[in-house]
Amino acid sequence: MSRNIYILTLFGFFAINVFTVQARSIPENSIKSILNDPLNDDHRKVLHAITGYRHRFEQSANFKALRWALGDEQTAGLCDLCDIGTPLIRLLLELNDTTLIDEAVNLFCREYILLDENVCLGAAHEYIGAVFQVLELAPLNNRQICSLAFECQPQTDFPIFSWNVTFPDKPKPTPQPPQPPSPSSPKLNILHLSDIHVDFSYKPGSQADCSQPLCCRGGQPVPGHTGAGFWGDYRNCDIPFWTAQALVKYASQAEEFDFIYYTGDLPAHNVWNQSRADQLYSINTINSMLATVFPNKTFYSAVGNHEAAPCNLYPTPNIRTDNISWLYEALADNWIRLGLPADTRDSILNGAFYTALVRPGLRLISLNMNYCTSDNFWLIINSTDPLGQLQWLIGWLQYAEDHEEKVHIIAHQPPSSCLAAYSWNFYKIVNRYENTIAGQFFGHAHAEELKVFYDEVDTQRPVSM
Ligand SMILES: *[C@@H]1O[C@H](CO)[C@@H](O)[C@H](O)[C@H]1NC(C)=O
Ligand SMILES: *[C@@H]1O[C@H](CO)[C@@H](O)[C@H](O)[C@H]1NC(C)=O
Ligand SMILES: *[C@@H]1O[C@H](CO)[C@@H](O)[C@H](O)[C@H]1NC(C)=O
Ligand SMILES: *[C@@H]1O[C@H](CO)[C@@H](O)[C@H](O)[C@H]1NC(C)=O
Ligand SMILES: *[C@@H]1O[C@H](CO)[C@@H](O)[C@H](O)[C@H]1NC(C)=O
Ligand SMILES: *[C@@H]1O[C@H](CO)[C@@H](O)[C@H](O)[C@H]1NC(C)=O
Ligand SMILES: [Zn+2]
Ligand SMILES: [Zn+2]
Repeated sequence: MSRNIYILTLFGFFAINVFTVQARSIPENSIKSILNDPLNDDHRKVLHAITGYRHRFEQSANFKALRWALGDEQTAGLCDLCDIGTPLIRLLLELNDTTLIDEAVNLFCREYILLDENVCLGAAHEYIGAVFQVLELAPLNNRQICSLAFECQPQTDFPIFSWNVTFPDKPKPTPQPPQPPSPSSPKLNILHLSDIHVDFSYKPGSQADCSQPLCCRGGQPVPGHTGAGFWGDYRNCDIPFWTAQALVKYASQAEEFDFIYYTGDLPAHNVWNQSRADQLYSINTINSMLATVFPNKTFYSAVGNHEAAPCNLYPTPNIRTDNISWLYEALADNWIRLGLPADTRDSILNGAFYTALVRPGLRLISLNMNYCTSDNFWLIINSTDPLGQLQWLIGWLQYAEDHEEKVHIIAHQPPSSCLAAYSWNFYKIVNRYENTIAGQFFGHAHAEELKVFYDEVDTQRPVSM
């Protein structure tokens, strides 16, 4: 048996394994064909069945629909991949044969996915270590993992994901809907910057509609297509540095701001090929530019999902094999240089969340929502209030209530991007402290939109946004 056929057999073996173990979670069509013709003599058939998954990817408008590239998008293809891939990887782990693993990855990238092979290999190379670890350490079965990672089944089906924050033993004050201030009240102007995503490899004139998730970085435009524009391009591209610089310079001259909310995602979307050094270069370079353009302005910063390398993976302290301190140290230096009080450092080093008093009576709380999203695979090992961040938030909201402060919350991902239990707990907190939370400001969506929170009992009554 050639090596390739052996791996194909493995894939087929999984598919059947998947079917018997997790019948409910398996999409019908592809599995049916395997069932009708189980692995006996004709390995080609198995190959065809599995390449059925490939068509799911072809359906997606763009490879950007891949979750790790975009963050928010759901695709059926990912669930298929998870259902097939999870038992596959668990089996490879059990076999513990690194050459076999390499070959499986290579074969997979070559045969099974309509994705630029280099992108696939690059992503596999970046993520496979973490994925293996997570599958080894997670106390979950395959269905639970796919539910948590890609919401393939409702998370509420699994009691293991349910947890509750605890509130101080103080009754909720009577709700006081906000009143518009008198026109003569003093005002603060706030600039909100988010998701700058600068591509330092941007090349004007290069191919803007390439087969990778991020383009405008090289290659000749196809005949009949125009090349990447000088200032940017609405096809699959991030912006060049000079555009980011010109934009914020213009903003700084056009209006007077008192301070800035700055909610993360500085690096570009070439997530299949990013190193820690790349991310640090982006963070340091963009922040130095901002410090020059806005001298003496305080930036209240929050961390995005793209600052880590690999993107989205923010290990919690219970993970022994990875450590995010390299990033949090850089963020603490950068954020304090951009105006945060020096006493936020310890909190930033701990988890890249902190609180600071903006003005007497106005407190800012910056959250690290990478500890809430399913994109952060480390949470599959333990998703219960990572680093106790929500409990910490309650502590500060109670402090603010006791001291008659109002609070602005900033963060990168909105709570609608969180794992279900996290999102519900967040909702409960916003309900309890509706008089104290005066506003919430998020990034990540790449769209201007409002999200409204409603009372948990009187679901017609808005309480926050
Ligand atoms: C896998 O094999 C390596 C040696 O190649 C060994 O050191 C390691 O302990 C093995 N891991 C498991 C889980 O068996
Ligand atoms: C990753 O980027 C480096 C340059 O930073 C380049 O040499 C390499 O070819 C890239 N790899 C892939 C898979 O794109
Ligand atoms: C969390 O609280 C809800 C009610 O608010 C309750 O139904 C659920 O059982 C609680 N879960 C745990 C794990 O305590
Ligand atoms: C920045 O603040 C320092 C000290 O507070 C002051 O001397 C300097 O003129 C300020 N620079 C600008 C550009 O406002
Ligand atoms: C990560 O590294 C920092 C500094 O190097 C260290 O203080 C911390 O204990 C490490 N965390 C883990 C979980 O190993
Ligand atoms: C998960 O993390 C929470 C909070 O960090 C901790 O209280 C809990 O014991 C952990 N659960 C497990 C199973 O390790
Ligand atoms: Zn973004
Ligand atoms: Zn983001």
